[in-house]
Amino acid sequence: MTSPPRRLRRILLGACALVLTLVTAIGAAVAWTWSAADISTVGTTEFTRPLHIPPLADSTVDSTGTRVFALDMRTGTTEFEPGRATETWGFNGSYLGPTVRAARGERVRVQVRNQLPEASTVHWHGMHLPAAMDGGPHQMVDPGASWTPEWTVDQPASTLWYHPHPHGATEDHVRRGLAGMFLIDDAPSAELPLPDTYGVDDIPVIVQDMRLRGSRLDGAHTVFRDIGFLGDRTMVNGTSSPYQEVGDELVRLRLLNASTARIYTFAFDDARAFAMIGSDGGLLERPTALDRIRLSPGERAEIVVRMRPGERTVLRSEKLAAGLDFWSNRFSGGDDTFDVLELRAASMLRSSDDLPETLVPLSIPDGRDAVTQRRFDLTLAGINGARMDMSRIDTTVTRGTAENWVVRNIDGMPHNFHVHDVQFRVLDYDGAPPPPELTGAKDTIFLAPNTATTLALRFDGPADPTTPYMYHCHLLWHEDVGMMGQFTVVEPGQQAVAPPGHAH
Ligand code: C2O
Ligand code: CU
Ligand code: CU
Repeated sequence: MTSPPRRLRRILLGACALVLTLVTAIGAAVAWTWSAADISTVGTTEFTRPLHIPPLADSTVDSTGTRVFALDMRTGTTEFEPGRATETWGFNGSYLGPTVRAARGERVRVQVRNQLPEASTVHWHGMHLPAAMDGGPHQMVDPGASWTPEWTVDQPASTLWYHPHPHGATEDHVRRGLAGMFLIDDAPSAELPLPDTYGVDDIPVIVQDMRLRGSRLDGAHTVFRDIGFLGDRTMVNGTSSPYQEVGDELVRLRLLNASTARIYTFAFDDARAFAMIGSDGGLLERPTALDRIRLSPGERAEIVVRMRPGERTVLRSEKLAAGLDFWSNRFSGGDDTFDVLELRAASMLRSSDDLPETLVPLSIPDGRDAVTQRRFDLTLAGINGARMDMSRIDTTVTRGTAENWVVRNIDGMPHNFHVHDVQFRVLDYDGAPPPPELTGAKDTIFLAPNTATTLALRFDGPADPTTPYMYHCHLLWHEDVGMMGQFTVVEPGQQAVAPPGHAH
């Protein structure tokens, strides 16, 4: 007969063994997840496919002088790999969309048709335009329906883009392939000796990450991916393993991070310097020499790289160096590296003009005439502690006034912050004056955990008390789960009218 203490000891020993086994199993699972979370295509990419250059969108000019474009949202199939047809979505085609191009001062109209099985929207990211034309979650287009926004382009030459914005499904719709560039031209930029032949020495570079499961696009978030979807390879303009032949000494790359969550740190494999000439909202005051540029989802940078005859260089994405702790860095994709695009110079290159010393004067507010300072605290749980509510106006601003917005990431994971309708100036960033790449016009800004920035914005209108614009984290799953708020531009003394809730 076993005495009670001995039985107790046996039970305790058994329990210990069980706990140990569990801990080991969990530890092994975590270790496996940890190492599987690290992705790299550096050195293994063959660059076998010529880069697809999205065609320029056709347009017609109607009797009133309005330039009219047509964008159809469609389903289709795309062969990312030869012989493997993948179901994708696109504008006027099966994946991505044409590059829309218009000049400052032009009136434009876009005939958007939704031929998808789901309701969606088309938002003009970076565009200054009336709220009802913005294509946010209040301008839903049902399957089979169309929507025809119209506005006058009134902002400097820049690289903008368009993509869907249905509340709760933006990540899904963009990841399936709905995105395109929207280029704005103006007279001051046309006079500058910059590379500007589309697809020749002025190349759109739409960078996305993706993952295939069999022949299907896989959108699953894997464990610990609070950041949202991360793919295991990159594509440029929908081409995987792309190369681009160049025939000019200077090549301008219009970089757009159209990924849903991935943050890139672009640099060349030989660490060559390049000139950054433009940010989200247009050209900088002067070219600035850099050897890397970080772009979080939604951000753009125009860079000019000098090529020597016959050489090859690879645009890469390097590890994220944003001071994240090792856990969130790994599970936010911060340890991942990618071979993005190979540039192949011809053996003889056309000579290019040297870049000018100065580009254009900036037209963004400087913060001195701000009538209000507001605070926006970012966490995955919402902005200023509140999740997005389509029927709640969070912020009302007065047409014709400037404001300063202090945006803080008070979360343990990376976020960014995008504001519709305006281009802002970064007054300070992480407690210091902004680095050169953040001195130009911006509409989206990256924020590492525990960093803050002050932005100067001006709301030139028009006022529309019944239709809000959005501000949000542009990591699209974060946006989908509610890291978004609404602001309305009103006339002095006017009240914002809360819109009705979900139409869908
Ligand atoms: Cu690029 Cu609210 O969007
Ligand atoms: Cu936007
Ligand atoms: Cu976020």
